[in-house]
Order: sequence, then C-alpha cells, then structure tokens
Amino acid sequence: MQRVAGTLRMRVVGSVGVGKQGFGRGKGRTPGSAVGAGRRAVVEHALNPIHRATTEEETAVAPRALIAGNWKMNLDRKTAEMLASALVDGARDAGVDLAVCPPSVYLAPVGAVLASSGIELGAQDCHTAQSGAHTGDVAPEMLADLGCRYVIVGHSERRADHGEDDATVRAKAQAARRAGLVPIVCVGETEAERDAGAAPDVVERQLRGSVPDGLDGGSLVIAYEPVWAIGTGRTPTADDVAAVHAHIRAVLSEITGDADSVRVLYGGSVKPGNAAELMAVENVNGALVGGASLKAEDFLGIARATP
Ligand code: 13P
Repeated sequence: MQRVAGTLRMRVVGSVGVGKQGFGRGKGRTPGSAVGAGRRAVVEHALNPIHRATTEEETAVAPRALIAGNWKMNLDRKTAEMLASALVDGARDAGVDLAVCPPSVYLAPVGAVLASSGIELGAQDCHTAQSGAHTGDVAPEMLADLGCRYVIVGHSERRADHGEDDATVRAKAQAARRAGLVPIVCVGETEAERDAGAAPDVVERQLRGSVPDGLDGGSLVIAYEPVWAIGTGRTPTADDVAAVHAHIRAVLSEITGDADSVRVLYGGSVKPGNAAELMAVENVNGALVGGASLKAEDFLGIARATP
C-alpha cells in the first residue's frame, strides 16, 4: 500500500471489494467495503505475497471529500468574518475537508478567522504573472502569501464575463502551481450543449485544454459545474452526474499523473437537501458550493450529508 498525493492506493483481491471511500468516513459503494475491510485486505496481502501475486487487482480508494464554498461577489467584511467564524465553530467534526473562497479583498480578514481551524482558504481567480503592470489583477503568489491553498480557475462566470478560454485557464492553473497553490479547474456544459447531447465532448475539450499535464491529487482539483445548474435550483440526475464524472476520470487518466487521486467535485445548486444523493455518486469527491455556502448552516449541512 502506498499513499500517493492524498490517496491511499491499495491492492485488493477476490471478494474483498473496495469501492469509493473517504478516509474520514467509510464511503464504499460495495457491500462490506468499509475502510476497515479495505485496510484488512492490505494487511492480508502484505502477509501473503504469493496470494497477492496471483489474484491481485489494483483498486484506488477515493480521496477524502472536499466541500468548497465559492462566495462569489457577496458579503461585506463583517458578514464574511461572521460566516467564517460560524464555520469554524460548526466544522469540528465535519468528516470532510472544507475550504472557502471569499472575494479577494476579504481573503486576509477571513484567513485570520480561519487560522488553525483546518478550514482552508481559497481564491476565486488569479492572474498568470507573478507581478507587473496588470491593474486590478492579483498574482497567485500574492494569494499564497495570504495563506491560500486553493484558487478557482475557469469558473463559467469568468469564462462568460471575462472571455476566458481554455488556454487562459490552463495558464492560470500553471501559474497557480508555480505559486504552490492547488487550482480548482472548472468545466461544464451550457444547457444548449447538454440538450444537443454534447456534454461529455464539451467537458472533455475543456479538460484537455484547461488542465496542465502531469498534475495529481496533491496539485489539482476539478469541478464539474453544468452552467445551467448554477444558481438555478436545477441539478442533473445522479445518473447524469455519474456519467460525466466517469468520463472526466477517464480523460484525467490520460492527462494527469494519478487520476484516481484527483478530487472531482460537482457544483451547481448543491443544497443540504440534495447533497446526500449527489455526493454519493461514484467518482464525485465533494462539492463546489455557491449560494448555499453563504449560510453556515447550509454549508455545514452539505458537509455533514457528504459520505
Ligand atoms: P450555486 O451553488 O449557487 O448553484 O453555484 C455553484 C457555483 O457556481 C459554485 O462555483
């Protein structure tokens, strides 16, 4: 067994099924596939190399879920600090990784509230350059300097409002890595594209164009956010999410170092009431939450509903 970029990779045999699992809580889809069973399987293998050599089958255990809040252009300084404080109070036994992405001007005060809480700080965008004549922009190094761990790149609102194309998003993701940040690269189809049956193709094109080569679970997060589901209260069915996420995982296996370790989040109208179903979908490793991340109760409710 080896730990690779936050993912436990193990070899299992025969009837011991190890499905989708988080480290904090069991997340197996296969009956009897609790984390403990998976770990026992590894121990048995370690003790019985001959058995392993003849029957082994490599199965990756899903990385621990990440629930990230994208606060977008909302709140003021005081309400941002109050929200962060409520999250710190309520998140102690969340059982998943949590992150919030406030507006850039509130990163410092929110970061101060989150200090040592275990809730990570993220930004909503970055420039590609480290410094220079780019009025109004923020370098990823500046975000790292403020204590950010994540930066969202290629959100559909930036793709639409600022004309960001895949090449720009890729350059931003690369710049984020240069600064030691983990980019959360967003992809997702419009309603017209979905209706035309083109969702998998659109998402694949965006992934191939936006994701730098060779990253893995320690250096990359993907967020699948169907544009038509953002802020609308509408979501794809669990089967639709499963199909797109499986496709994303397959494409990632060609362009990343260890696709199984990469967290692939679902985003778009995630609420406490639908989180359990959406977060249980195979290949979904958490959520990127917009509107519901602005209320501590709702954001924490989503975290608690996440298996
Ligand atoms: P909503 O959760 O408000 O639909 O927003 C999703 C989103 O865009 C997160 O980045």
